[in-house]
Amino acid sequence: MRKVVVSTGNRGKFEEIKEIVREVLNAESIMATDLFHDYRGVNEGDDYFTNALLKASVLAVHSDIPVLAEDSGLEIPCLGDAPGPHSSRLGGSSATDEDKIRLILEKMKSAEDRQARYICTAVLMDHRGRYVRGYGTVEGVIAKEKKGEKGFGYDPIFYYPLAGKTFAEMEAPEKNAVSHRRKAIEALAEKIKKVNFWNM
Ligand code: IMP
Repeated sequence: MRKVVVSTGNRGKFEEIKEIVREVLNAESIMATDLFHDYRGVNEGDDYFTNALLKASVLAVHSDIPVLAEDSGLEIPCLGDAPGPHSSRLGGSSATDEDKIRLILEKMKSAEDRQARYICTAVLMDHRGRYVRGYGTVEGVIAKEKKGEKGFGYDPIFYYPLAGKTFAEMEAPEKNAVSHRRKAIEALAEKIKKVNFWNM
């Protein structure tokens, strides 16, 4: 089976990516921190694609196995599309997911327009720096209170109208079938076929 190294230190994200990669790319995933014990991620900026490219390139040069990186975030139009690429840094480096959710609910206390979307840009890069990219998004609504224990990050307040529940109330396969991450990796898979990435 083909392998990819996933450039993340976030276990929740890795578990989702692993399943999607198995289904969509028919490949096995290795978490970066299991292969590179001093992996520290990268200093992220304001742009999903640049962040994904950076996350892929710091490992790809050291790896015979292609590296899959993604950068994602939650965009809320009534907050000017914040927190966006800063989603993991909302509230500072010591803020927990609970803290981040509390901050969003506080900011949206009296908001009527509660629409939101998750965004994901994924990059698959080989050791020579050649890459393909994919983009995915999923639309939802910011709930008034958190619900559900599954998923990670903002999932307890990301209500998905088509399922009638939050992402944190959905089983992993249910979320993975419709998520921004799934769509980004599917888009990437289409590009892989076109450029014959595995044999480049
Ligand atoms: P980054 O891609 O490492 O910058 O992290 C993206 C951040 O966006 C995560 O730490 C979460 O806070 C948020 N995020 C992205 N995708 C999801 C998701 O599927 N569920 C919940 N939160 C997410």
